Amino acid sequence: MQISLAHQVALVTGASSGLGAASARALAAAGASVVINYNSQAAPAKALADEINASGGKAVALGADVSKEADVERLFAQILDAFGYLDILVANSGLQRDAAVVDMTLEQWNTVIGVNLTGQFLCARSALKIFNRQGVREGVSCAAGKIIHMSSVHQLIPWAGHVNYATSKGGVEMLMRSLAQEVSEQKVRVNGIAPGAIRTAINRDVTQGAAEKQLLKLIPYGRVGDPEDVANAVVWLASDASDYVVGSTLFIDGGMSLYPEFRGNG
Ligand code: BGC
Repeated sequence: MQISLAHQVALVTGASSGLGAASARALAAAGASVVINYNSQAAPAKALADEINASGGKAVALGADVSKEADVERLFAQILDAFGYLDILVANSGLQRDAAVVDMTLEQWNTVIGVNLTGQFLCARSALKIFNRQGVREGVSCAAGKIIHMSSVHQLIPWAGHVNYATSKGGVEMLMRSLAQEVSEQKVRVNGIAPGAIRTAINRDVTQGAAEKQLLKLIPYGRVGDPEDVANAVVWLASDASDYVVGSTLFIDGGMSLYPEFRGNG
């Protein structure tokens, strides 16, 4: 299977680090022009754009807080100015503000829902307006556009101490499926990815040392994931190789969502 995203433009939100950065790199390697969105971390986002441009790809880093409507609208206008098209949205920006529920502040709740859920809605809405105007670009892709929502195993697995985060990801699943139902007839493919424990900054304290041993009890496949495990799936879902995949969530979790605690007979 040859995957080429040549002549396509991809936006990856929250791409200055972690899953977003790996996805941007992989999309660029597959031939897409990539918009690396960042919020606070301009320097690593610009360094990633430089790296991609230096290796023969095409990338630009653009700042925007995806939880703010005006920022998102400016971001999408800048993308059209820079590239003229948009074909792929990877709605990836996400964060955690963990606390026991009785200690969780409204600010911690709102920040997580704002970025992880409202941010995905705002970006999807802007992308869909562009996809609808563009239609299918003959010879470029079978679809008028592709949206990939970055979710989490916690769209399925409840998570004590993280009710804001788990709620946001449960919402992302229903956002993704409802959008897919609404816009598929416009030839837009909407899907989700639900990563488990992937080695990134968001979970650094549980993916090393003694904590990693504990974590591995929850991962039947016996290893923590790498950002590339997710990035490879992003490229596939963005490509025509997955053209009949609509409204699905792909779990990339080494089996974390298989209730591994039941291996000992419950
Ligand atoms: C969270 C990580 C966590 C993983 C598995 C992800 O969505 O962001 O912090 O390690 O789920 O629990």
